Amino acid sequence: MLKVCQVDDVEPGDTLQLICKDRPPIALYNVDGTFFATDDICSHGDASLADGLLEDFAIECPFHAGTFDVRTGEALTRPCVHKINTYPVKIEDGFVYVLANETAPA
Ligand code: FES
Repeated sequence: MLKVCQVDDVEPGDTLQLICKDRPPIALYNVDGTFFATDDICSHGDASLADGLLEDFAIECPFHAGTFDVRTGEALTRPCVHKINTYPVKIEDGFVYVLANETAPA
């Protein structure tokens, strides 16, 4: 688990892109106080999901408006059909930790 930011850095309904040293970026989501993490790059194209619109548990890609469930990574609406990876998130002492190698906030 790597410490990526403080809980207060990401407001409910907001997202944060985590730049990673040795792997593609990760998107962090705050859904009403519960944090989730997925691949940041859309499975349909080269878009950052952290730049998308988070509505409940669905993140809408900023390029073609396909959506994913941030809890499972499942593609919910077209043109997205391929699942994205999800990563465990832990909150401790006001900090957010993501289980992925070499992550740091963008
Ligand atoms: S790049 Fe994400 S829906 Fe097309």
